[in-house]
Amino acid sequence: MFNDIDSIKNLFREEIEKADNLKYLQELKIKYLGKKGVITGKIKSLGTIPPNERREYGQQVNDAKKYIEEIIDVHEKALRTSELNKTLQTQRIDVTVPGHYTPAGHLHPTTQVLNEIIRVFTSLGFHVEQGPEVELDFYNFEALNMPKDHPARDMQDTFYISDDVVLRTHTSSVQVRVMENNSPPLRVIAPGKVYRCDADVTHIPMFHQLEGFMVDKHITMGDLKGVLQVFIHMVFGPATKLRLRPSFFPFTEPSAEIDISCVICKGSGCSVCKNTGWLEILGAGMINPRVFEMAGYDPEFYTGFAFGMGIERVAMLKYGIDDIRLFYENDKKFLEQF
Ligand code: DAH
Repeated sequence: MFNDIDSIKNLFREEIEKADNLKYLQELKIKYLGKKGVITGKIKSLGTIPPNERREYGQQVNDAKKYIEEIIDVHEKALRTSELNKTLQTQRIDVTVPGHYTPAGHLHPTTQVLNEIIRVFTSLGFHVEQGPEVELDFYNFEALNMPKDHPARDMQDTFYISDDVVLRTHTSSVQVRVMENNSPPLRVIAPGKVYRCDADVTHIPMFHQLEGFMVDKHITMGDLKGVLQVFIHMVFGPATKLRLRPSFFPFTEPSAEIDISCVICKGSGCSVCKNTGWLEILGAGMINPRVFEMAGYDPEFYTGFAFGMGIERVAMLKYGIDDIRLFYENDKKFLEQF
């Protein structure tokens, strides 16, 4: 027995009793086992021990070292566990607290309906063309068989930029632009914004249209009806009926107004269809030979059909919306429904 080693162990036992946190335990570890620690000191001083006692003394120092290491180890584990438990208690996550709501936007209903219509026509082989919104009077009117002072111009309340430049009143303006630069056969749709100086429950100064036209040899009214029937069945459902009603547009001859059976009452008569069972959806017809002449096509050789629809109007019929202004008031309660 060596007294100094014994008293080191005794002192250590007293001190370890007080170890109630990891910081203090670390200090103890350094005090006894560190580079300048008590036990390390004893190991270094082995040389000063008389040779006959050295072996025995060395053994005791080593035992004391192991003893201290083991006890520190046990305490460290226990303290780590209890500190972890404490953290888990105080920083507990309440999974029942409502989360943070990040509102996500979506495409505007007009864009959704426009995209749907574009998908239908591209699946039928039509491709998309675009024209300018600030348009020459020539493409908006003259090339469509509406010379200056033609009474049909009154049907469209036009924003004039100058005598020769307008905000396009319809996407029909794209027809002659495309024909000038391409030869038949043509299968084209032209979606986009149009402008009219008009505002009430069914009219706004800026709205969207989609023009479509097909030009080739031997195109007939039957092709027009077939293409529009596919479109109407895909957008409004396969039970929707369609009818052609004689009408007038300067750029088509003959011209027709296309009606669909009422989406609300299915044709039996209600307030939406004013008891007629039908809703007007678009204008169409066979392209007037005068338009072909303007575009440099030979009307003896080519025929074609054209149609034009208002996108907001299609959306209103599809969703039963009765005021077109709702689309652009940015009322989230309205927009979130789509
Ligand atoms: N451009 C016409 C309008 O805005 C709609 C229209 C009618 C387009 C008949 C056509 C058509 O291509 O054949 O009122």
